[in-house]
Amino acid sequence: MKLSIVGAGYVGLTTAACLAEIGHQVYCSDSDQAKLGLLQQGQIPFFEPHLAQLVARNCQSGRLEFGATETGIERSEAIFICVGTPPLSNGEADLSAIQTVAREIAARARGYRLIVEKSTVPVQTARQIKRELALYGSQQLDYEVASNPEFLREGSALEDFFHPDRIVVGVESRRAEDQFREVYRPVLEQTFACPVHENCISRTRPAFLVTDTNSSEIIKHASNSFLAMKISYINMVADLCEASGADVEKVAEGIGLDRRIGRAFLRPGIGFGGFCFPKDLQAFVRIAEKAGCDFSLLKEVEKVNLARIAKFVDKVRQEVWVLRGKKLALWGLAFKPNTDDIRFAPSLAVIQQLLAEGADLQVYDPEAMPNARRQIAGVKFSEDPYEAARGAEAVLILTEWDQFRTLDWERLGSLLHRRLIIDGRNMLAPVKEQLAAQGFEYVEIGRVAHAAEPAAQSASRAAKKPGASDPVPIG
Ligand code: UGA
Repeated sequence: MKLSIVGAGYVGLTTAACLAEIGHQVYCSDSDQAKLGLLQQGQIPFFEPHLAQLVARNCQSGRLEFGATETGIERSEAIFICVGTPPLSNGEADLSAIQTVAREIAARARGYRLIVEKSTVPVQTARQIKRELALYGSQQLDYEVASNPEFLREGSALEDFFHPDRIVVGVESRRAEDQFREVYRPVLEQTFACPVHENCISRTRPAFLVTDTNSSEIIKHASNSFLAMKISYINMVADLCEASGADVEKVAEGIGLDRRIGRAFLRPGIGFGGFCFPKDLQAFVRIAEKAGCDFSLLKEVEKVNLARIAKFVDKVRQEVWVLRGKKLALWGLAFKPNTDDIRFAPSLAVIQQLLAEGADLQVYDPEAMPNARRQIAGVKFSEDPYEAARGAEAVLILTEWDQFRTLDWERLGSLLHRRLIIDGRNMLAPVKEQLAAQGFEYVEIGRVAHAAEPAAQSASRAAKKPGASDPVPIG
C-alpha cells in the first residue's frame, strides 16, 4: 500500500521504517527541515537499536522516502499522523501540531484517504480532526479518521512493532478495518523475515482489536497509566520492604507469579521517566477531570514517582553523609537502557538535587552523552564508567545499561576513593556476592543487606557499615 507518515520523530520514523520493511511504499515527512535533511542523507537523529540499518535498507530498495508533507498527503491511500503532542503547563497535551496536519490534509488531499492518529492523543481527538476536515477540506475529499495507537517501547521498538501483543484500531467502517488488516497483514500473520532476530520463527500471532475511535484513544492512555501505576505500586512496596527487613525482589516475584498480576513492570527503582509515562499520566488525569471524573488514584501514582528522587538522594546522604564537596560517579543518564533519550529522565532530577546540595558529579552514559551535554551543566562528563569513578566516594547507578553488569570490579575499586555502589535500579544484585568479595559495599532499593544475605555475612557487613539502617520494628 502507499502510506504516508507525517512526523519523523521517534514514533513516526520507527513506524515508517517498519511499514516499509513489511512491504509498503512509505513516504515519511517532517516539518523540521534540518531533520529531514539529515534523514535524506541517511542519518538517524536518535539512537534506537537496529533502526539505522532498517532505514538504510528500505531507502536503498526505494520503499522508504523522505520529503515534504504535501507530497506524502497527495500520494498516499493512508496518512499516519505521528507528530508530537507535548505537555502544556496544565498537563494537557498540546494538539497544535495535529491540527496543523489536519489542515494540511484538508488543503491537499483529493479522493479517499484513511487518516490515522498514531500520536498519543486525548479521547475525542478523532472527532475534532473530522470537524477540522469538514470545515476546511475540499469537496473532492472523502475520508475516514481512525485511531491506531502505538505501543512501542524505546529501546525495543522494532521488536515491539514486529511482534506486538496486540494491534488496536478504532474505526467507523468495515472499509477502514479492512485497510488496517491489509496494512498489518504480515505482522498479524507473522509472515516476514524478522529483521531483529535471525532465524526468528513461529512467534505468537498478535491480537487484532477493533473498537470505536473513542475507546481506542482511551486504550492508549489507560495502558500507559496502568503500567505507571504498577511501577509506583512496587516502589511503595519497596519502601515498606526496606523499612521492615523484607526483600522486594522476592516480593515482586511472589506477586508477579499470579498470572492476573504478572511480573512485568514490577522493577523497583528511582521511578519512571521518559517522554511517555509522565506526560501521559498527567494528560489522562486532565482528560478525566474534564469529563467530571476525579482520577485521584493516578495523582497518587505521580506523587509516589516524584518522591522517588528525594528518597534516593536521602539514601545517598545516609551512606556518604554530607554531600557538599563529595565526588560522586553517576552511571546512566538515559531514562532507560538502549536509548539516548533523557527527556524527563529521573537522572536529571537526581543530578539537579545533588548539585543543589553541592556534590561534585562525574557522569557517564553509553549513548546519551551528546544529549546530556546539551542539557546538563555543572557536571564532569566522562569517557567511560571507570573515568567517572576516578576518586569518587560512591558510584550511583541511575540506568541499568548492560555494560555496567560486566565491568572489571578490581579496576573499578582501585579507582574509587571508597568502594561503595548505590544501585538505583538493583541491576547488580546478581553479582553482589562477587562485589562483596572485592570489598564493595552494595546498597539496593527495597532490600537491606540483612534481608538478602546469610546471617554471618550480614553481621560482618553491618559491622562494617555503621550507617546501615536496621529494619523498623513494626507493631
Ligand atoms: C512506554 C510504554 O511501555 C509503551 O508501550 C508505549 O508505547 C510508550 O511508553 C509510548 O507511549 O510511546 P517507554 O516510555 O519507551 O514505553 O518505556 P518503558 O519501558 O515503558 O519504561 C518507562 C519508564 O519506566 C522507564 O523510566 C523505566 O526505567 C521505568 N520502569 C519500567 C521502572 O521503573 N520499572 C519497571 O518495572 C518498568
